[in-house]
Amino acid sequence: MRGARAFVGLGSNEGDAYGHLTAAFAALDEGAVRVAGAGRLVWSPYVGAPRGVLPPRVLNTVAEVRTELEPEALHARLSEIEQARGRVRDGRHTRALDLDLLAYDDVVCVTDELTLPHPRARQRAFVLAPWTEVAPRYVLPGSAHTIVEHATALLRDDPAQDGALRVATAPPFADRAAPCTRLTDRESLARWRDGCRGTVGVVMTMGALHAGHAALVQRAAAECDHVLATVFVNPTQFGEGEDLARYPRTLDDDIALLARHGADAVYVPSADDMYPDGLATTWEPSGAALGFEGALRPGHFAGVVTVVTELWRRTRADRSYFGRKDAQQLAVLAQVRAERALPVEIVACPIVRAEDELALSSRNRYLDGSTRLIAREFALALRGLGALAARGRDLDGVPMPFEPARDLAAVRAHLAGRGFGVDYLELVDPDTLAPCTELDRPRLVIGAARLGGVRLLDNRWLAPPAAEAP
Ligand code: PAF
Repeated sequence: MRGARAFVGLGSNEGDAYGHLTAAFAALDEGAVRVAGAGRLVWSPYVGAPRGVLPPRVLNTVAEVRTELEPEALHARLSEIEQARGRVRDGRHTRALDLDLLAYDDVVCVTDELTLPHPRARQRAFVLAPWTEVAPRYVLPGSAHTIVEHATALLRDDPAQDGALRVATAPPFADRAAPCTRLTDRESLARWRDGCRGTVGVVMTMGALHAGHAALVQRAAAECDHVLATVFVNPTQFGEGEDLARYPRTLDDDIALLARHGADAVYVPSADDMYPDGLATTWEPSGAALGFEGALRPGHFAGVVTVVTELWRRTRADRSYFGRKDAQQLAVLAQVRAERALPVEIVACPIVRAEDELALSSRNRYLDGSTRLIAREFALALRGLGALAARGRDLDGVPMPFEPARDLAAVRAHLAGRGFGVDYLELVDPDTLAPCTELDRPRLVIGAARLGGVRLLDNRWLAPPAAEAP
């Protein structure tokens, strides 16, 4: 289903809050609606209770959906789901389930039943925090500002709200229980592809799958008629001395995860099937591939481009889903797609984080307990930069606008002091990865650092605080 793109706020503070949200995710993934993604669940204080009344905290998140329903019909569907979970509207300060239609494509409307975008969405950290995770670049209709800019403005104006949030857990996506056909060679892949009618989405992986990959499949299955995953530990993108031999291989678990999120088939080629004529790479790095990972890992992007373009050719995919955690890989692939005018749409999907903020990665399993505790400081440092950029003043309240060269150098030094080998930490244009000296609009800060033999890669959106709240 392609349908409209809409966002739903979910909350519960009565009885088994997690159970209510789990049921809501299942009900939202039926009929003319599909759940394409969601932020982590967060606990937040109840807002709006009269003095002296202290209702239980609320478990919240934001889900992105694809739907063929018109806004009014989707709004009615949300009320139905609330009622099925026993929502009672009698002025009480507890709700089994509260579902709000936050936004729907670029619709701006006010009717007796429905106001879009939701009038309070941009004033609530428990909405903007998970929304930033799932759709940072979505422009809130009628505002000309992205979700990450609204979140930055709220962080500047009311930092206590963000400080009161507690990340609880990953979103409870419904089990789609698709039978996932395993394809082991080019011939069976071609036969499977010939049998597809409608759109095909491909999710390429090297296996050792985690919730970050699950999010790609979740979205692909919400948007495409058929979803194919690939699992191939691609030797041509590993350099000498890198971890090709010990790269984790967990195929049975991988296939179970793919099926749960709605993949119809998985192509698991051997190296001979993938590269019948040897391992020659054919792409000369240029543009977005030259700095950062390209400079530190010679040959890496040539290997990635070789395997991805060959898989695009074999799968004839309409859409190809990649995570934003590998921001440079995404920029390089977008560049190659444009240079060769390839008929595939690249869909960039959000970074998925663990509860401790570390961006999920197959290599995180190499971190032992105590190293993991330190590793999270890398993610927290990037998050701290977001708060610094939003605040625009020092801890005494003296105006101190974010200054990339100075502030990034301070974070690099801090991380080095904590034992990280910082490869880079830079402010860049999110699409071209060109370094930026100014935070004049939303940008990415990208970083790579080594800790305990593991290389961590991460990035965060930074936005300048708007002169007025957007
Ligand atoms: O991002 C990855 O896991 C790999 O680089 C990819 C895109 C599957 C190519 O091997």
